[in-house]
Amino acid sequence: MSENSFQSEVTAKAAESGANASARFRERQAQGGSTAAVDQERVALLAGKAIKALNDLVIEEQLSYEEYNAFKAWLIKVGEDGEWPLFLDVWLEHSVEEVANADREGSKGTIEGPYYLGGSPELEWNGTIPMREDEPGTPLVFKGQVTAVDGTPLPGAKLELWHADNLGFYSQFAPGLPEWNLRGTFTANDNGEYEIHTIRPAPYQIPTDGACGQLIAAAGWHAWRPAHLHFKVHAPEHQLITSQLYFPGDPHNDDDIASAVKPELLLDPQPNPDGEGEVTVYDFVLDPA
Ligand code: DHB
Ligand code: FE
Repeated sequence: MSENSFQSEVTAKAAESGANASARFRERQAQGGSTAAVDQERVALLAGKAIKALNDLVIEEQLSYEEYNAFKAWLIKVGEDGEWPLFLDVWLEHSVEEVANADREGSKGTIEGPYYLGGSPELEWNGTIPMREDEPGTPLVFKGQVTAVDGTPLPGAKLELWHADNLGFYSQFAPGLPEWNLRGTFTANDNGEYEIHTIRPAPYQIPTDGACGQLIAAAGWHAWRPAHLHFKVHAPEHQLITSQLYFPGDPHNDDDIASAVKPELLLDPQPNPDGEGEVTVYDFVLDPA
């Protein structure tokens, strides 16, 4: 494949990721039937404050009609491109997560992002995540223990892991990848331990060819998230953790576009003494429900 056709394939995959994220979000909302109870006073408060914040901005910054119309056109395009999940998960979800998990004593959570899918293949405590036969990337063994805050192991805890491939693409969002590539649900052993065999993901660039990319280019920002592994960890009678883990030395750990990196979430991978690639240890601590 020539350099150019490779580049156009990568761009095409990124474009589809945004549109798919909207479709998947809609499906999940419909399945869960999760229409939050609508309290009229709360709606009036929140919508009123949001509208006031925008009006204050118009006055403070003396917004012109040209700028107002550019903003309107851009908002329309975010919807047309199916990029509301991307926009919200990059620029807002980190604050929602901070509020939701402020009182936790156990492991830190961080944003879920737009690419989670439930129902990934079930695997043993020491399984290999579904991947292509020739999956490119450094092999990574990811292991640790799931415990309660008092240190009690949590046997049978479920770890859902999903991450991008070696080009930064997620299965079922970018085309051309096997359905459950780099997605799996692992069950911890009788001592709460897990040992997952996967590959190191690449840094991820949010799609640059849609409305979000247009904003990033117009503002002179960058589109990168550092390489990361996504998790949900569940155990009976404990709070679910949704989190991500990062790799030291990634140039975007300090300026993640999604503001989702926390110092507690940095891994420390070492050369694997028992095989190829790297091994890294992380223990999940779950708060009581
Ligand atoms: C986005 C993508 C991610 O992989 C992630 O973890 C968070 C946000 C995004 O494109 O919006
Ligand atoms: Fe991600």
